[in-house]
Amino acid sequence: MADAKTDDPAGAVSSETPVISIDGLKKSFGDLEVLKGVDLSVTRGEVVCVIGPSGSGKSTLLRCVNLLEEPTAGKIVVSGTELTDPDCDIDAARTRIGMVFQQFNLFAHLNVLDNLTIAQRKVLGRGKEESERVAKSNLERVGLSDKASAMPAQLSGGQQQRAAIARALSMNPDVMLFDEPTSALDPELVGDVLGVMRGLAEEGMTMLVVTHEMQFAREVADTVLFMDGGYVVEQGDPAQVIGAPRERRTKEFLARVLDPTHQNPQDTAV
Ligand SMILES: Nc1ncnc2c1ncn2[C@@H]1O[C@H](COP(=O)(O)OP(=O)(O)OP(=O)(O)O)[C@@H](O)[C@H]1O
Ligand SMILES: [Mg+2]
Repeated sequence: MADAKTDDPAGAVSSETPVISIDGLKKSFGDLEVLKGVDLSVTRGEVVCVIGPSGSGKSTLLRCVNLLEEPTAGKIVVSGTELTDPDCDIDAARTRIGMVFQQFNLFAHLNVLDNLTIAQRKVLGRGKEESERVAKSNLERVGLSDKASAMPAQLSGGQQQRAAIARALSMNPDVMLFDEPTSALDPELVGDVLGVMRGLAEEGMTMLVVTHEMQFAREVADTVLFMDGGYVVEQGDPAQVIGAPRERRTKEFLARVLDPTHQNPQDTAV
């Protein structure tokens, strides 16, 4: 097994290597404690989907992993670097973490190719030729080879989101974080973006995905994690967590999501 590990650059065999390791993560905004002690480990090549009700802390968790939010307590290690170490070079560590948000955040005044090359050149110091080569191969990966010279406003929402994914991939991240990447899209555009994400998962990309696409989570995730009230309430195999949840709060959430007309007695009080 030890030999197989070193022979396997994609990391399929060394699947126990944690790319993200989170220990006792807490985050408060003023008096409001949003994360109350989250532990999480994402191994190389693993796809972890995070589900849970609005306000449960899913985005805050992802933003802490990228240190867009500063944790109040706890430890976060990504690719062997402790981000929560005060001496950590955050900018360098962040280049290894790709993040895709609900809003695509492309630069409106730059064409697609320039959107994909600018950070490679400014942050990674790549030259024009190399950065364009990397950008074009990632545009191909997301099915946008013919849109390199288009401006973002000329793309559909789904195409913009795929361009944003290609931009993140162009930095050669160790892990990709997705925060509800399809929730701002018209329903007919969702499938293409999920298809790209599915392809990445199949290629062995390590992914932490906040999503309300239960079908996607069920089919693509290795692990599903249900959050509520700042805690991880339940986690495990998607067939178990989504198909046969153990915890009452998970059951109630899934009943609401899978059947939006379903109401809990508690909901009527809100
Ligand atoms: N910058 C901030 N300042 C103050 N409160 C915040 C801030 N960011 C988030 N919160 C609060 O933290 C809680 C968790 O927010 P978060 O965005 O993580 O939830 P979420 O699970 O991603 O919800 P949604 O499904 O609606 O996106 C909410 O009560 C929110 O109002
Ligand atoms: Mg959110």
